[in-house]
Amino acid sequence: MKVAVLGAGPAGLYFAISMKRRNPAHEITVFERNRPDDTFGWGVVLSAETLDNLAANDAVSAAWIREYFAYWDDIAVFHKGVRTVSTGHGFCGIGRKRLLLLLQRRARDLGIELVFESEIADPQPLMASHDLVISADGLNSHSRATFAEVFKPDIDVRKCKFVWLGTRQKFDDAFTFIFEETEHGWVWAHAYQFEPETATFIVECSEETWAAWGFGDMNRKQSIAACEQIFAGHLGGHRLISNAGHLRGSAWINFPRVLCERWSHKNLALLGDASASAHFSIGSGTKLALESAVALADYLHSEPSLEAAFDRYESARRTEVLRLQSAARNSLEWFEDVERYLDLDPVQFNYSLLTRSQRISHENLRLRDPEWLGGAEAWFQHRSGNTDNVRRAPMFAPFQLRDLKLKNRVVVSPMAQYKAVDGCPTDWHFAHYAERAKGGAGLIYIEMTCVSPEGRITPGCTGFYAPEHEIAWKRLVDFVHAETETRICAQIGHSGPKGSTQLGWQQSDAPLATGNWPVMAASDVPWSPANQVPKPMDGADMARVRDEFVASAEMAARCGFDMLEIHAAHGYLLSSFITPLTNRRTDDYGGSLENRMRYPLEVFHAVRAAWPAEKPISMRISANDWVGDEGVTPAEAVEIARLLQAAGVDICDVSAGQTSVWARPVYGRMFQTPFSDRIRNETGIATMAVGNIYEPDHVNSILLAGRADLVCLARPHLADPYWTLHAAVQLGDRDVKWPDPYLAGRDQLYRLAERSATMGLKV
Ligand SMILES: Cc1cc2nc3c(=O)[nH]c(=O)nc-3n(C[C@H](O)[C@H](O)[C@H](O)COP(=O)(O)OP(=O)(O)OC[C@H]3O[C@@H](n4cnc5c(N)ncnc54)[C@H](O)[C@@H]3O)c2cc1C
Ligand SMILES: Cc1cc2nc3c(=O)[nH]c(=O)nc-3n(C[C@H](O)[C@H](O)[C@H](O)COP(=O)(O)O)c2cc1C
Repeated sequence: MKVAVLGAGPAGLYFAISMKRRNPAHEITVFERNRPDDTFGWGVVLSAETLDNLAANDAVSAAWIREYFAYWDDIAVFHKGVRTVSTGHGFCGIGRKRLLLLLQRRARDLGIELVFESEIADPQPLMASHDLVISADGLNSHSRATFAEVFKPDIDVRKCKFVWLGTRQKFDDAFTFIFEETEHGWVWAHAYQFEPETATFIVECSEETWAAWGFGDMNRKQSIAACEQIFAGHLGGHRLISNAGHLRGSAWINFPRVLCERWSHKNLALLGDASASAHFSIGSGTKLALESAVALADYLHSEPSLEAAFDRYESARRTEVLRLQSAARNSLEWFEDVERYLDLDPVQFNYSLLTRSQRISHENLRLRDPEWLGGAEAWFQHRSGNTDNVRRAPMFAPFQLRDLKLKNRVVVSPMAQYKAVDGCPTDWHFAHYAERAKGGAGLIYIEMTCVSPEGRITPGCTGFYAPEHEIAWKRLVDFVHAETETRICAQIGHSGPKGSTQLGWQQSDAPLATGNWPVMAASDVPWSPANQVPKPMDGADMARVRDEFVASAEMAARCGFDMLEIHAAHGYLLSSFITPLTNRRTDDYGGSLENRMRYPLEVFHAVRAAWPAEKPISMRISANDWVGDEGVTPAEAVEIARLLQAAGVDICDVSAGQTSVWARPVYGRMFQTPFSDRIRNETGIATMAVGNIYEPDHVNSILLAGRADLVCLARPHLADPYWTLHAAVQLGDRDVKWPDPYLAGRDQLYRLAERSATMGLKV
């Protein structure tokens, strides 16, 4: 086959080598616009595992690379003058120039023609003269631009500015992150040694800080001098060096995240950064390029046609690319938002940095560096006021709000049971909630309990509006207090535009077949075209419903509930005021956020005045309507939380969505936790995270990274009322309290867990 490769970066060279290894008869030419030893950048990070994969493909080049590998195990973080080190991370790296020179040598040995200083602006003539053209021409690929209509590139230019520098200062004991506060804002560096005499030193900052420093108007020399001044304390008198001499300008760039819808056209395929890029902070761009090169060479030999080979290449590599891009996105967003975390204690800041991509979990960190993690856990317990047994997972740290003391951070999220009769809880509710209270969580919620018969979502919803409701709820609260250490929270709400609908397991949110009651809301916007048009509330309606909230809170107080939550999320009545999607009012209760929050806050203030001063109140909000700028965005949710905080709300329960049938949520593990993280770390209000959190590892990492103060789990508690007790067994924590009659079951479970752990070790 006659093959042209555009670009002699890692992708192009390694593809050429992999092709020749599979069939020496291929005639391969690599065209590169630069000279053989012109290269931007310094070191690249790979892993031992990646190198093993490469050895299976071409043992010769892998052995050469291995010879030059620098290894380091530690990550050091300089923050607020404190250097924190953790170990067990296992990186290896090599100079980019060294890697390319080795690959060039290997390519030449295999008979590949390398043509340097040859810029290919248009791939089409090569497509006509060659059987196969591979465009490995990097982030700004010309071929990708030539066939943009086919490849449909999605290029997301990220917010931070960075410049890839080097230094002779040694960073040979650890991969080092340095955060420096300057008069123009924070600037940070990613530094690692890749050769005995040289280390990579990538300097990064926000666009605002970059502008305030005037980096845009500086030439390269001035830029470097400014960076030397910023990091003088870490450079030991060494210079920062740029080897991007062949590039124009100051060499600062914004990282472009590239992803193409298609990677091939006729006899041309995109490879490496040209097809998909991964942010440098997870060090996977070169790995991705090399592994894709191997896969493409494989399929070109295993498949009967170019088309079939390209199809397999795209489908096999796309999954891996998306996986890495998702981790890279988490990581780069962490750096983009780092100013949010810089006030954290150095221990928590370090933990947050290490877990930023969500690829490293709490237990994974324990495997890497048990001592460091143990210290971080002890720090968390101390800070939570626990001085007895500090070697416990964060989920078992106590938490206090006003006089309410929770024994741990696990919360059974509110979940409607749809089993009430005329608003009255039944034996079902008693049995259901009593089981969850025995299950070890620090706090359990009862479902959204409605302030009036019309305020119910369905005919099966519970209420706080009739004397028999009070008797039934009090019986439950008394049981929880008498038999467990768990605390119990009442969630009160009004269904608004989503009222008069079917039970959860019927057609959810659809009107009743018969017996509908009239509904009201902020404006006359129905939940869906099938639902009733609600009556826009007038002043009298608002005063009446506010008083119903107060009466319900008073009933909850008489029942002895430990905490109260006002439901202002999920499209129900108060939520219908907050979101602009359903609030079309032109009076003082519509328009600006301040106006849209006016009624929910009036309700809060009235309830607060009636609720015992020593007990906390939470508000649940939808922090994202998932419809883009038309609705509530995570940024606006921060402003909502600020208003709640100023009003005296003790904790914000950060949920999302269910406010519009047009919402397009992006689901995934812990998918709503970033909203809680943002609110907590930008406003300082305590938060609860909720949404697809189901493993002890999730809970622990959310808490220790400071993304929430409490963690709510809903569906996991439907499947397992004893989720917390079982989590303790899984983590080997014996300090949780089981109900006395169940002790024999507890002992057996710990024994079985120990036995399977031992068997696991023997395997
Ligand atoms: C600051 C920074 C730090 C990074 N750190 C790491 C790291 O630690 N670990 C890691 O794995 N990855 C890292 N990367 C990513 C890594 O450099 C790339 O993902 C990787 O180089 C991709 O290889 P490639 O061959 O596709 O592209 P490139 O390495 O960009 O190679 C493309 C080649 O094509 C040539 N070329 C471009 N256009 C033409 C043309 N028209 N005609 C002829 N030749 C052309 C270019 O000169 C270049 O030599 C980093 C990237 C940056 C920007
Ligand atoms: C059956 C069921 C009923 C729910 N009822 C309520 C409710 O009454 N009030 C509320 O705020 N959220 C309610 N939710 C939402 C949960 O509290 C939680 O926010 C959501 O299920 C996401 O958490 P999870 O992924 O742990 O299930 C309910 C969820 C389920 C599954």
